Amino acid sequence: MTPQLLHTVLITGATGAIGQALALYYAKPGVHLLLQGRNTEGLTALAENCKGRGATVTMQILDLRDIPRLQQWVSQLTESNLPDLIIANAGININQGSQRRGETWQEIEALLDLNIKSTFALVNALLPALRQRGSGQIALISSLAAYYGLPITPSYCASKAALKAYGEAMRSWLAREGIHINVVMPGYIQSDMCDAMPGPKPFLISPELAAQRIAKGLAKNQARISFPFPLNFGTWCLAVLPPDFSSRLLRLINYGG
Ligand SMILES: NC(=O)c1ccc[n+]([C@@H]2O[C@H](COP(=O)([O-])OP(=O)(O)OC[C@H]3O[C@@H](n4cnc5c(N)ncnc54)[C@H](OP(=O)(O)O)[C@@H]3O)[C@@H](O)[C@H]2O)c1
Repeated sequence: MTPQLLHTVLITGATGAIGQALALYYAKPGVHLLLQGRNTEGLTALAENCKGRGATVTMQILDLRDIPRLQQWVSQLTESNLPDLIIANAGININQGSQRRGETWQEIEALLDLNIKSTFALVNALLPALRQRGSGQIALISSLAAYYGLPITPSYCASKAALKAYGEAMRSWLAREGIHINVVMPGYIQSDMCDAMPGPKPFLISPELAAQRIAKGLAKNQARISFPFPLNFGTWCLAVLPPDFSSRLLRLINYGG
């Protein structure tokens, strides 16, 4: 699938760094972008930019944690603008805080509601129409943090591992129905979220480069789009090595929390 052949592309979290870069990547004549965000000003500016590149744009201001409203939005889409490509990108990160404070339940619940519940709800609401049509592609933005739990961000890693497992399972289940599911596992990408995360950020890349890498993987329908290579390999090793060894390794490289 190439960007030129895609007609309708839905991106959640389009006001964030990666969402914006993806929207601008796909913004071309003949493409209808369905852009979701919460920040009206930011989303409007992005929509104008995408229109300037020749795309048609429909904006949706929505807090995705409001599941009934999310389902209502998807139900409207399935009647008028059923997307060809859905990029479930919206997400938040939390961490243990300073001086080993630990994550609060309020933070954890907000994270689970957005990163897992709203993403599953989006996929679940779209699937009946996609299956009936017999085509569609869904990209779940997970993270390299899904390979092995990092002590500084336990809930975030767990939420991204949930998306990875869900995407892998759904991909196999839907393969024969013409529905492609892709799990995207990026390393560090310059963004507000990334800036707010403590600790070293090796192999940091720009959102534009990340968007290109993601779009290339989606065009090839890669099951797992994980990058950049050195960090991908390193985090994958953490997952396959004995856990106590991985834990010691993390402490050695200052990721021990
Ligand atoms: N940056 C990285 O290093 C990195 C690495 C791996 C994976 N990721 C993943 O990539 C995705 C995008 O991250 P990013 O770096 O672009 O972060 P970002 O710039 O902070 O963007 C996050 C996006 O999520 C949206 N969002 C937050 N809460 C929401 C809610 N309740 N309802 C709807 N939308 C909500 C934000 O909208 P508002 O502007 O309205 O808050 C924003 O559009 C996330 O899923 C993240 O986990 C990021």
